[in-house]
Amino acid sequence: MKFFIDTANLDQIREAQNLGVIDGVTTNPSLMAKEGITGRDNILKHYVDICKIVDGDVSAEVIATDFEGMVKEGEQLADLHPQIVVKVPMIKEGVKAIKYFSDRGIRTNCTLVFSAGQALLAAKAGATYVSPFIGRLDDISTDGLNLIAEIRLIYDNYGFETQILAASVRHTMHVLECAKIGADVMTGPLSSIEGLLNHPLTDIGLEKFLADYKKGN
Ligand code: G3P
Repeated sequence: MKFFIDTANLDQIREAQNLGVIDGVTTNPSLMAKEGITGRDNILKHYVDICKIVDGDVSAEVIATDFEGMVKEGEQLADLHPQIVVKVPMIKEGVKAIKYFSDRGIRTNCTLVFSAGQALLAAKAGATYVSPFIGRLDDISTDGLNLIAEIRLIYDNYGFETQILAASVRHTMHVLECAKIGADVMTGPLSSIEGLLNHPLTDIGLEKFLADYKKGN
Protein backbone atom coordinates (compact mmCIF):
# COMPACT_ATOMS: atom_id res chain seq x y z
CA MET A 1 0.00 0.00 0.00
CA LYS A 2 1.35 3.40 -0.98
CA PHE A 3 1.06 6.36 1.39
CA PHE A 4 0.61 9.79 -0.18
CA ILE A 5 0.36 13.00 1.80
CA ASP A 6 -2.51 15.29 0.86
CA THR A 7 -1.14 18.80 1.28
CA ALA A 8 0.66 21.61 -0.50
CA ASN A 9 2.52 22.59 2.66
CA LEU A 10 6.24 22.15 2.01
CA ASP A 11 7.16 21.77 5.71
CA GLN A 12 4.63 18.97 6.14
CA ILE A 13 5.82 17.30 2.95
CA ARG A 14 9.43 17.50 4.19
CA GLU A 15 8.42 16.08 7.57
CA ALA A 16 6.53 13.22 5.90
CA GLN A 17 9.42 12.52 3.54
CA ASN A 18 11.83 12.41 6.50
CA LEU A 19 9.65 9.80 8.18
CA GLY A 20 10.64 7.55 5.27
CA VAL A 21 7.24 6.02 4.51
CA ILE A 22 5.84 8.49 1.99
CA ASP A 23 5.36 7.45 -1.63
CA GLY A 24 3.95 10.64 -3.10
CA VAL A 25 1.89 13.81 -2.73
CA THR A 26 -1.58 14.86 -3.79
CA THR A 27 -2.69 18.46 -4.04
CA ASN A 28 -5.78 20.26 -5.22
CA PRO A 29 -6.66 23.91 -5.87
CA SER A 30 -8.09 24.28 -2.33
CA LEU A 31 -4.88 22.99 -0.74
CA MET A 32 -2.80 25.35 -2.91
CA ALA A 33 -5.00 28.30 -1.91
CA LYS A 34 -4.67 27.29 1.76
CA GLU A 35 -0.90 27.78 1.44
CA GLY A 36 -1.39 31.13 -0.27
CA ILE A 37 -0.03 29.84 -3.60
CA THR A 38 -1.80 31.84 -6.29
CA GLY A 39 -1.08 32.75 -9.92
CA ARG A 40 -0.23 30.20 -12.60
CA ASP A 41 3.56 30.70 -12.46
CA ASN A 42 3.71 30.38 -8.68
CA ILE A 43 1.54 27.28 -8.76
CA LEU A 44 3.73 25.61 -11.39
CA LYS A 45 6.88 26.48 -9.43
CA HIS A 46 5.30 25.05 -6.28
CA TYR A 47 4.69 21.72 -8.02
CA VAL A 48 8.36 21.57 -8.99
CA ASP A 49 9.38 22.42 -5.40
CA ILE A 50 7.23 19.52 -4.15
CA CYS A 51 8.80 17.15 -6.69
CA LYS A 52 12.25 18.10 -5.40
CA ILE A 53 11.28 17.06 -1.85
CA VAL A 54 9.60 13.69 -2.48
CA ASP A 55 10.69 10.71 -4.56
CA GLY A 56 7.24 9.59 -5.75
CA ASP A 57 4.25 10.75 -7.75
CA VAL A 58 2.91 14.29 -7.33
CA SER A 59 -0.66 14.95 -8.46
CA ALA A 60 -1.20 18.36 -10.06
CA GLU A 61 -4.76 19.35 -10.92
CA VAL A 62 -6.03 20.99 -14.09
CA ILE A 63 -8.34 23.98 -13.70
CA ALA A 64 -9.92 23.90 -17.16
CA THR A 65 -13.19 22.00 -17.54
CA ASP A 66 -13.24 21.74 -21.35
CA PHE A 67 -11.33 19.03 -23.24
CA GLU A 68 -8.95 21.35 -25.11
CA GLY A 69 -8.18 23.33 -21.99
CA MET A 70 -7.51 20.22 -19.92
CA VAL A 71 -5.23 18.81 -22.60
CA LYS A 72 -3.25 22.06 -22.85
CA GLU A 73 -2.91 22.44 -19.09
CA GLY A 74 -2.23 18.75 -18.51
CA GLU A 75 0.55 18.64 -21.07
CA GLN A 76 2.12 21.70 -19.48
CA LEU A 77 1.90 20.07 -16.04
CA ALA A 78 3.32 16.76 -17.26
CA ASP A 79 6.25 18.60 -18.88
CA LEU A 80 7.14 20.21 -15.55
CA HIS A 81 8.67 17.10 -14.00
CA PRO A 82 8.64 13.31 -14.58
CA GLN A 83 6.99 12.79 -11.17
CA ILE A 84 3.89 14.81 -12.10
CA VAL A 85 0.59 12.97 -12.48
CA VAL A 86 -2.15 15.06 -14.11
CA LYS A 87 -5.24 15.28 -11.93
CA VAL A 88 -8.45 15.48 -13.94
CA PRO A 89 -12.02 15.84 -12.59
CA MET A 90 -14.62 13.13 -13.19
CA ILE A 91 -16.72 14.96 -15.75
CA LYS A 92 -17.49 14.03 -19.37
CA GLU A 93 -14.71 16.22 -20.79
CA GLY A 94 -12.41 14.82 -18.11
CA VAL A 95 -13.02 11.24 -19.22
CA LYS A 96 -12.10 12.26 -22.78
CA ALA A 97 -8.98 13.99 -21.50
CA ILE A 98 -7.94 10.96 -19.44
CA LYS A 99 -8.24 8.78 -22.56
CA TYR A 100 -6.21 11.32 -24.53
CA PHE A 101 -3.46 11.39 -21.89
CA SER A 102 -3.50 7.61 -21.46
CA ASP A 103 -3.01 7.09 -25.22
CA ARG A 104 0.06 9.33 -25.02
CA GLY A 105 1.63 7.80 -21.93
CA ILE A 106 0.80 10.74 -19.66
CA ARG A 107 -0.23 9.51 -16.22
CA THR A 108 -3.50 10.70 -14.69
CA ASN A 109 -5.38 10.79 -11.41
CA CYS A 110 -9.15 10.97 -11.87
CA THR A 111 -10.44 13.07 -9.00
CA LEU A 112 -13.81 13.87 -7.40
CA VAL A 113 -15.02 10.28 -7.69
CA PHE A 114 -18.05 9.45 -5.55
CA SER A 115 -19.54 6.34 -7.19
CA ALA A 116 -18.47 2.94 -8.50
CA GLY A 117 -19.84 3.86 -11.93
CA GLN A 118 -17.54 6.86 -12.10
CA ALA A 119 -14.61 4.67 -11.06
CA LEU A 120 -15.46 2.17 -13.80
CA LEU A 121 -15.48 4.95 -16.40
CA ALA A 122 -12.12 6.26 -15.15
CA ALA A 123 -10.59 2.80 -15.49
CA LYS A 124 -12.07 2.32 -18.98
CA ALA A 125 -10.50 5.64 -20.01
CA GLY A 126 -7.12 4.42 -18.75
CA ALA A 127 -6.62 6.49 -15.60
CA THR A 128 -3.47 5.65 -13.67
CA TYR A 129 -5.19 6.44 -10.37
CA VAL A 130 -8.81 6.89 -9.38
CA SER A 131 -9.54 9.05 -6.32
CA PRO A 132 -12.74 8.18 -4.44
CA PHE A 133 -13.30 10.77 -1.68
CA ILE A 134 -14.23 8.68 1.32
CA GLY A 135 -14.31 11.41 3.99
CA ARG A 136 -16.68 13.58 2.00
CA LEU A 137 -19.05 10.61 1.54
CA ASP A 138 -18.93 9.94 5.27
CA ASP A 139 -19.75 13.64 5.76
CA ILE A 140 -23.12 13.08 4.08
CA SER A 141 -23.88 9.84 5.95
CA THR A 142 -22.81 7.59 3.07
CA ASP A 143 -20.25 4.84 3.71
CA GLY A 144 -17.07 5.97 1.96
CA LEU A 145 -15.24 2.72 2.71
CA ASN A 146 -18.01 0.74 1.03
CA LEU A 147 -17.21 2.61 -2.16
CA ILE A 148 -13.57 1.51 -1.91
CA ALA A 149 -14.73 -2.11 -1.53
CA GLU A 150 -17.06 -1.82 -4.54
CA ILE A 151 -14.33 -0.39 -6.75
CA ARG A 152 -11.86 -3.06 -5.57
CA LEU A 153 -14.35 -5.78 -6.55
CA ILE A 154 -15.04 -4.28 -9.98
CA TYR A 155 -11.37 -3.67 -10.81
CA ASP A 156 -10.41 -7.18 -9.70
CA ASN A 157 -13.25 -8.72 -11.73
CA TYR A 158 -11.72 -7.39 -14.92
CA GLY A 159 -8.06 -6.89 -14.06
CA PHE A 160 -8.17 -3.11 -14.47
CA GLU A 161 -4.74 -1.70 -13.69
CA THR A 162 -6.05 1.68 -12.48
CA GLN A 163 -4.86 2.10 -8.90
CA ILE A 164 -7.43 2.90 -6.23
CA LEU A 165 -6.22 6.02 -4.43
CA ALA A 166 -8.42 6.43 -1.37
CA ALA A 167 -8.69 10.21 -0.98
CA SER A 168 -10.29 12.51 1.56
CA VAL A 169 -8.86 10.20 4.21
CA ARG A 170 -9.30 11.92 7.55
CA HIS A 171 -7.92 9.60 10.25
CA THR A 172 -6.10 6.39 11.09
CA MET A 173 -9.15 4.12 10.91
CA HIS A 174 -9.74 5.21 7.32
CA VAL A 175 -6.15 4.19 6.59
CA LEU A 176 -6.49 0.80 8.29
CA GLU A 177 -9.84 -0.04 6.72
CA CYS A 178 -8.55 0.95 3.28
CA ALA A 179 -5.57 -1.34 3.85
CA LYS A 180 -7.88 -4.23 4.76
CA ILE A 181 -10.07 -3.66 1.70
CA GLY A 182 -7.04 -3.46 -0.56
CA ALA A 183 -6.85 0.16 -1.70
CA ASP A 184 -3.59 0.57 -3.61
CA VAL A 185 -2.90 4.02 -2.18
CA MET A 186 -4.24 6.30 0.48
CA THR A 187 -3.82 10.04 0.67
CA GLY A 188 -4.46 12.02 3.81
CA PRO A 189 -3.02 14.55 6.22
CA LEU A 190 0.22 13.75 8.04
CA SER A 191 -1.83 13.17 11.22
CA SER A 192 -3.58 10.18 9.63
CA ILE A 193 -0.18 8.57 9.04
CA GLU A 194 1.59 9.58 12.26
CA GLY A 195 -1.49 8.50 14.23
CA LEU A 196 -0.66 4.91 13.26
CA LEU A 197 2.35 5.16 15.57
CA ASN A 198 0.35 5.55 18.73
CA HIS A 199 -0.30 2.85 21.31
CA PRO A 200 -0.27 3.38 25.09
CA LEU A 201 1.27 -0.06 25.67
CA THR A 202 4.22 0.93 23.48
CA ASP A 203 4.78 4.03 25.63
CA ILE A 204 4.36 2.12 28.90
CA GLY A 205 6.59 -0.71 27.68
CA LEU A 206 9.34 1.63 26.56
CA GLU A 207 9.22 3.54 29.82
CA LYS A 208 9.64 0.27 31.74
CA PHE A 209 12.48 -0.98 29.52
CA LEU A 210 14.37 2.28 30.03
CA ALA A 211 13.72 2.29 33.81
CA ASP A 212 14.92 -1.33 34.13
CA TYR A 213 18.02 -0.54 32.07
CA LYS A 214 18.83 2.37 34.40
CA LYS A 215 18.56 0.08 37.45
CA GLY A 216 21.40 -2.11 36.18
CA ASN A 217 23.64 0.69 34.76
O1 G3P B 1 -7.53 14.27 -1.96
C1 G3P B 1 -8.77 14.86 -1.83
C2 G3P B 1 -8.80 15.63 -0.60
O2 G3P B 1 -7.96 16.73 -0.70
C3 G3P B 1 -10.11 16.02 -0.09
O3 G3P B 1 -10.01 15.93 1.26
O4 G3P B 1 -10.62 16.39 3.55
O5 G3P B 1 -11.05 18.11 1.76
O6 G3P B 1 -12.41 16.03 1.87
P1 G3P B 1 -11.09 16.66 2.16
